[in-house]
Amino acid sequence: MSLTEHIELEELQSRIHRARRLVVLTGAGMSAESGIPTFRDAMTGLWSRFDPAALASEEGFRADPARVWAWYVERREGVRQAEPNAGHRALADYARRHPGRLTVITQNVDDLHQRAGHTDTIRLHGDILADQWLDPCPRRGGPPCETEWARPGQPPHCNECGNLVRPAVVWFGENLPLAALNAAEAAAMGADLMLVVGTSGAVWPAAGLAARARRAGAWVAIVNPHPSEIDGDADQIVRGTAAGVLPVLLAAG
Ligand code: APR
Repeated sequence: MSLTEHIELEELQSRIHRARRLVVLTGAGMSAESGIPTFRDAMTGLWSRFDPAALASEEGFRADPARVWAWYVERREGVRQAEPNAGHRALADYARRHPGRLTVITQNVDDLHQRAGHTDTIRLHGDILADQWLDPCPRRGGPPCETEWARPGQPPHCNECGNLVRPAVVWFGENLPLAALNAAEAAAMGADLMLVVGTSGAVWPAAGLAARARRAGAWVAIVNPHPSEIDGDADQIVRGTAAGVLPVLLAAG
């Protein structure tokens, strides 16, 4: 690390120390050091190996439920085997030391922030470990669908109306959960300082939160080993990784 980078990191540490309302927006890079693949990293990103339209859209699921379900079953297993990294733990420890001062907004659908101990994370894109029904129950006013496990490898379905179960994540073309989006926007507008960690800034509306925070007066710092599409929305860029930088930035004291 150069002297300049060291000085800039120290300045950011003191900004964090002074901040009363710290907001951290995380993306897939936050979980990369836990072994969960990102989406757009060259070669290793999921979208360099799989077609998002076929596997992360309602149309793709309706076209081939078994294929999409199998992909999510495999991704779920990867999440369950992963462990929170030092970055997740640094955020959870900071929240414990400074109750009410930190808001974490994540685009990630894994549960690593929660398993590190940060339980009130704002989840913009849902929860890969949870299920939801694909359609409203067609039996108007009847009891909710009952899940009846179908043949292995097929998504569960209701044995009375045939409704399918799908992962409780936001797919391309779908709206974000309104309560989560409103909470994220309110947090961004009220932030003294926003850290943007491990996101390419390729997907909206999450990608717009940094600019929103900055327009409202926050200092915005990006933590990412590579350039992102929203570097121009930041006051400061820290070229480093989540597990390497966050424990330094959020150290006690
Ligand atoms: N620490 C910090 N950042 C990292 C690390 C790391 N160890 N490793 C990679 N990165 C950065 C990459 O440089 C990249 O900028 O993380 C970013 C990951 O970008 P994406 O793969 O595009 O993930 P993300 O920005 O979260 O994608 C947003 O797109 O496909 C949808 O719903 C999906 O939530 C996802 C959304």
